[in-house]
Amino acid sequence: CGIVGIVADPDIIGNVAPILVQGLKRLEYRGYDSAGFALIECSSNKLLIFKDKGRIDKVVEEYSVHKYCAVCGIAHTRWATHGEPNTVNAHPHVDCRNEIAVVHNGIIKNFAELRQLLEERGHKFKSETDTEVIAHLLEEYLENGDSMWEAFKKLVKVIEGAYAIAVVYAYEPNRIYFARKVSPLVIGLGEGFNMIASDIPSMLQYTKRFVALNDGEYGYIEPYRLYLEKSGTPVEWHHRVMTVTWSIEDAEKGGYPHYMLKEIMEQPRVLYETYTGLMSSRELEKAAEILASADHIFVTGAGTSYHAGLVFAYFMARIARRPVITFISSEYLAYRSLDHSNSALVAISQSGETIDTLQAVRSFKSSGGRVVAVSNVVGSTIPRESDTTVYTRAGPEIGVAATKTFLTQVLALTSIALALAVHTGSLTKAEYTEAMRELRNASHAASSGIDRSIRLVELLASSLRSKNNIYVLGRGLGVPLAYEAALKIKEVSYIHAEAYPAGESKHGPIALVEEEFPVIFVGVPPEDELLEKLQSNVMEMKARGASTIVIGTSSYRELEGVDFYIDVGNYSEILAPYAVVPPFQLLAYKLAVMLNRDPDKPRNLAKTVTVE
Ligand code: G6P
Repeated sequence: CGIVGIVADPDIIGNVAPILVQGLKRLEYRGYDSAGFALIECSSNKLLIFKDKGRIDKVVEEYSVHKYCAVCGIAHTRWATHGEPNTVNAHPHVDCRNEIAVVHNGIIKNFAELRQLLEERGHKFKSETDTEVIAHLLEEYLENGDSMWEAFKKLVKVIEGAYAIAVVYAYEPNRIYFARKVSPLVIGLGEGFNMIASDIPSMLQYTKRFVALNDGEYGYIEPYRLYLEKSGTPVEWHHRVMTVTWSIEDAEKGGYPHYMLKEIMEQPRVLYETYTGLMSSRELEKAAEILASADHIFVTGAGTSYHAGLVFAYFMARIARRPVITFISSEYLAYRSLDHSNSALVAISQSGETIDTLQAVRSFKSSGGRVVAVSNVVGSTIPRESDTTVYTRAGPEIGVAATKTFLTQVLALTSIALALAVHTGSLTKAEYTEAMRELRNASHAASSGIDRSIRLVELLASSLRSKNNIYVLGRGLGVPLAYEAALKIKEVSYIHAEAYPAGESKHGPIALVEEEFPVIFVGVPPEDELLEKLQSNVMEMKARGASTIVIGTSSYRELEGVDFYIDVGNYSEILAPYAVVPPFQLLAYKLAVMLNRDPDKPRNLAKTVTVE
């Protein structure tokens, strides 16, 4: 879910409604099954609520939200957790008198008991959501004589779980109350106005100065004031103001029809920026120090970030000669009873907010482990709770399916493996310098992958668009890349794509293969070890009538029995991912467009998942 709110001096901003609409649209990647607005009307100070299921644009149009004039407001885009996505369950939620409006991201764990108590006291609930208890609880405290601020402080003490909350009250049109626990919330500082939102890009058009809230902090914003507290004590925040250098253009489509395409095409540039950023900071050194002193190294992430973790594990074994234990972050409980005091965890999360990965970090730290985060968002929660962070410099990624953040993660993680290899002695300083110099060409490899495939992918997508199933098979480094390729195809085109280590395909998956079943092979170095083996897998599939496709380095042209081939050029092992991955991303994108799917907002998916 995503939250945005703004409170303004009416002489500076006459109407905040259009700003809320704009800001909320930038948050649509966080979920979009319903949307809603709470506005405090300019002249009447009346609380107006507009909400419905469906996308933001639809809701805005339905209620002509633009027509209203507001001095203060909050808005929400929802990804359903409690209660189906319908109008009643959409946020904001209000109290019985329609004076208090609440938007919330996360889960209130003790909502059932609170709801029962409040119902016994006569409160009538309209929705099935956990959020509605917040509005009624505040109302209850107000009825008992508390001021809104007192009521809000009591609320924060009583509710349990994960939340980012924003509240407006009709009688205080100059304030937005907020609280943050686990779920992210950022304050945007303006001149004559202040904002609050789930992320920075949603406010970037209006301000560049931000304060990221820490866990347990709550307070309020007014047009000229931010007041912050934690556990009853005021918090001094001025030294925490960050100035962001991203431009709004960075967060917009830049002439491309979709963010996904823009973000695929940006890869050469952001790889270069990530590389130079890493070379001019001490991030790699700090990460390598932590990993070098650990007896055991774990790596975790969710979705695409997990796949980057698998690439890392591969290079850690190959280059740094260190075995790594990889796990999907939601499975962290499997390791909870281990003593981690001599272990390190590499936690990968582009957003820095994925709750499963955050919980893995917390569980690991609580048993003595040290954590190296890899993230794209400065000031996000996972970096803040980790011992050190290696940042990717991909800029904001808006498309729900991760593209540029994946390859920049691979670059950052490969660099960490190389930096560690110097510590472990498996590379000399000179070899390390040479390898890092080579990695500078990641950007060229990505350009080559894009240029050599952009036309062919169109043809390939036309032949695959009518298929129900696709296999993606690889060996070695090709395995995690195949996983990522299959995920991308699935996410945006809704065609079932499944990845396997090619050698494993004969242990089950091949049973499904019949005439014209598409099987895509990922061809990567070291070709002298893998080519012959992959040749057998191609023949096994061909013998069952499969359509065989290879996306790989030039050496794989030698393969026989291949129906369609995309040659990305010849690259070494550490550079191959940057050339091989873009054709798959483009293929997934083209399939989505041909099948009339929205590649930027696939159904049922959210970019940042902040519920377990
Ligand atoms: C969601 C997104 C994926 C992403 C995953 C992890 O599932 O749809 O694209 O890979 O979260 O996100 P993170 O921000 O932790 O990398």
